[in-house]
Amino acid sequence: MEYHNPVLLHESVDGMNIKGDEICVDVTFGGGGHSKEILKRLGEGGKLFGFDQDKDAERNALEDGRFELVKQNFRYLKNFLRFHQAVPADCILADLGVSSHQFNEGERGFSIRFEGPLDMRMNQGGDLTAEKIINDYSEEDLIRIFREYGEVKNAGKLVFEIVNTREAGRIKRTQELIEIIEDCVPGKFRNKYLAQVFQALRIEVNDEMGALKDMLEQSYEVLKPGGRLSVITYHSLEDRLVKNFFKKGKFEGELEKDFFGNPQLRFKQINRKPILPAEEEIKNNNRARSAKLRVAEKL
Ligand SMILES: C[S@@+](CC[C@H](N)C(=O)[O-])C[C@H]1O[C@@H](n2cnc3c(N)ncnc32)[C@H](O)[C@@H]1O
Repeated sequence: MEYHNPVLLHESVDGMNIKGDEICVDVTFGGGGHSKEILKRLGEGGKLFGFDQDKDAERNALEDGRFELVKQNFRYLKNFLRFHQAVPADCILADLGVSSHQFNEGERGFSIRFEGPLDMRMNQGGDLTAEKIINDYSEEDLIRIFREYGEVKNAGKLVFEIVNTREAGRIKRTQELIEIIEDCVPGKFRNKYLAQVFQALRIEVNDEMGALKDMLEQSYEVLKPGGRLSVITYHSLEDRLVKNFFKKGKFEGELEKDFFGNPQLRFKQINRKPILPAEEEIKNNNRARSAKLRVAEKL
């Protein structure tokens, strides 16, 4: 089975505005689909750094003298680029979330479709798993993450079922969790509801919002002025952070102005509205359905 079918491939790499011998970064290397396209456009003297925290991505490392795989969380972008003497960088691409490979491997626990352990770690060496969250988090914390990260409407009822059941023994498997919460599922939207529950757990396990904020902040620090940042998001929480950061230079609140009334911007948006995949791409790749691309230039 294919590791991953890249989404918004040409649009996102076009956004990086690669012209020759530049320093490029793909912070979500995965199956390397975007990285291959970047290398096609990069000059002989250019350099591409591909970050991924998943061990499985190592097998996709590209045989090309210009490519370097950095097996790290992208929240440490600045340190590792400095270590590789790659600051300032010219352009950065982020294709957020989980790869198809991660979804399709039942043992990783990401998918509602497969039986597997409640794991969901993108980095197999991480300490926190979905099992620990389900069994050890307080009722209040569980409600908060299902509301905040999954936008689950009946989080109170959902958590009541979980907390009731876990008293009799730890909940360990994906299908076991699904069975326990089956009564909370609104009839018509079963898959959507379960996907929201799994999404919330995945975001918490991998601290996806924290990592995204760190990466965006550090992108500003490592890019040269005029450097490009191209970000593909797959749900509204991610998109909101990226949109605010590009438009206001911060993740929440209003745009700040200095003493003279000049807006404190850090990036200029290249497209005012996000770029969406064409109908044709959505037909051929289900993952593209929720994708949104935003591109910005460092001021
Ligand atoms: C949507 S896939 C990227 C697919 C890739 N663009 C391709 O064409 O094959 C996201 C990848 O980013 C990795 N990832 C997600 N969050 C990360 C983080 N904070 N640090 C490093 N890698 C991360 C995941 O392990 C996954 O392999």
